[in-house]
Amino acid sequence: MSKSFSFHISANDGRARTGIVSTPKGDIRTPAFMPVGTAATVKAMMPENVRATGADILLGNTYHLMLRPGAERIHNLGGLHKFMNWDRPILTDSGGFQVMSLTDLRKLTEEGVKFRSHIDGTEYNLTPERSMEIQRLLGSDIVMCFDECPALPADRARINESMQLSMRWAQRSRDAFGDRPGYALFGIQQGGLEQDFREESAEALEKIGFDGYAIGGLAVGEGQDAMFGVLDYAPNQLPVEKPRYLMGVGKPDDIVGAVQRGVDMFDCVLPSRSGRTGQALTRHGAVNLRNARHKDDLRPLDENCTCPACSNYSRAYLHHVHKAGEIIGSMLLTWHNLHYYQELMQGLRDAIAAGQLDAFVAQFHATRAQGDI
Ligand code: GUN
Ligand code: ZN
Repeated sequence: MSKSFSFHISANDGRARTGIVSTPKGDIRTPAFMPVGTAATVKAMMPENVRATGADILLGNTYHLMLRPGAERIHNLGGLHKFMNWDRPILTDSGGFQVMSLTDLRKLTEEGVKFRSHIDGTEYNLTPERSMEIQRLLGSDIVMCFDECPALPADRARINESMQLSMRWAQRSRDAFGDRPGYALFGIQQGGLEQDFREESAEALEKIGFDGYAIGGLAVGEGQDAMFGVLDYAPNQLPVEKPRYLMGVGKPDDIVGAVQRGVDMFDCVLPSRSGRTGQALTRHGAVNLRNARHKDDLRPLDENCTCPACSNYSRAYLHHVHKAGEIIGSMLLTWHNLHYYQELMQGLRDAIAAGQLDAFVAQFHATRAQGDI
């Protein structure tokens, strides 16, 4: 296995690209979807099952793991990969975004964020330096810069101030990360919906120099049209030869539109979270298995899907286990949803490689327009 981190683009179709991010722990085929394993588990799935859906990489969270069980503990137990039984690449988010969205009692300063744990109220201090240390202790393969972003809508002054702070934190993250062959550090572009701020942020990050570049501060309430508006220019502002990662996105049609606009990597809780609430994401759109119309339906959720939920169980059974609150309901639908996402990513990769992305996207939308019958 290669000892270094690299990105190789094998084909382009319009602004879309397909390729491979190589890491010492394995390759990541792009465009890639990273299932979210916040607390050292992709909820309701064993890691070998997540791999079976086609995932090359998981996402973990600095914020949750530093609170429980603690970064030093995971390090002493052999690192996050061994701890959770996943030997392939792991990307970790840096914590600032989660502190701002999950805690009420917090204080943001130039130094970092002071906050109280949502679990037991203990006070913590998270800075770019501590975030880099935690992600190193976890053994994360792709480390994210420590950043901050306002909820949208926000005024230009607030967005600018926040972006400038995140760029100073990006430099501190870079300095604290140091030189770690085989491990990657990604910068995070901010700037809300403001094209000039996005440009300034991209320039600041490129000057510092990173192994990959994330687009942050989107999918925070602005809607798909506004998000696509930013994605019409934001990926082009970032270095063409480095991976581009759109954080926290998204629904299947968000991902398809973002791939068309030049994004390479995604993460979102949607497929795993909605699996636990009885919502299936399918070629035909979202299907709520809790709906009484499935009660006596012997058909599979999707006759074209090869996942265990669709191969071996009826809609009637999936309806029953979700109504009854049975654990297997979460297991089966999470599996289906992650399988559907990975199959969508494979379809996008194949279409880009064949120069057929427009036709693939037209078919994607036509199938969804039929609805679930
Ligand atoms: N997850 C979704 N959006 C963001 C963002 O802007 N920054 C970070 N660190 N994580 C995110
Ligand atoms: Zn399925």
